[in-house]
Amino acid sequence: MAPTVARSTIDITPLRQANLPIIFILGGPGSGKGTQCAKIVEKYGYTHLSSGDLLRDEVASGSERGKQLTDIMQRGELVPLDVVLDLLKEAMLSKLTSSKGFLIDGYPREVAQGIQFETEINPCALVIYFQVSDDVMTARLMNRGLTSGRVDDNEETIRKRLDTFHKHSLPVVEHYGTKCRTISAEAHPDEVFQKVSEALETLS
Ligand code: AP5
Repeated sequence: MAPTVARSTIDITPLRQANLPIIFILGGPGSGKGTQCAKIVEKYGYTHLSSGDLLRDEVASGSERGKQLTDIMQRGELVPLDVVLDLLKEAMLSKLTSSKGFLIDGYPREVAQGIQFETEINPCALVIYFQVSDDVMTARLMNRGLTSGRVDDNEETIRKRLDTFHKHSLPVVEHYGTKCRTISAEAHPDEVFQKVSEALETLS
């Protein structure tokens, strides 16, 4: 049975009314989501929210909700969808007045997350999916693991994260159909960003 994690009550009326563009950033572990989001922020000024970073911040805060998340993330599994959505809502509301739009990195991780987000907040404008082979993603994460200090950057958890990605997250790409741009992301980050920029230009 899925673990139960505490929820909060959040009024998202201002978020819905602002109707800012929302871009979902998808890709397997180590596909370069964070790397490309940093470049998008620099060029386009969107607000970057990483579901993984929000979860790690929650763990680091020592809150009751955070304590319940550590084991799930260490196992490379998905955190319950309500928890991630609550964290995203809180973060989006806190940035609302200064934001031109939101890059939601690492979300949705499963089709149900996307449906819940779009029902409770607003539909996304675009989905970008970074396609990278498992071997390349593993090599990048093993390399990053030498210095990242992340509890999930080890061989066993990387394997589980990849399994979770194939099982739950790949169907999201299919779910969004033509709204989703698939970008091959094994080249140099600058080359990948060229293609990302082309996809984003279609929004304006
Ligand atoms: P999360 O933090 O989202 O981790 P992830 O998806 O596994 O992705 P990473 O952050 O590890 O990699 P990335 O794609 O951002 O790549 P990066 O740019 O860093 O999630 C962690 C956990 O939280 C999940 O396992 C789950 O438990 C939970 N979680 C998160 N979101 C959730 C959700 N929505 N629902 C439920 N649970 C959720 O790059 C990686 C490395 O590669 C870096 O060293 C970088 O320098 C290098 N690199 C990047 N691009 C290139 C390139 N083009 N060429 C060469 N090297 C490159």
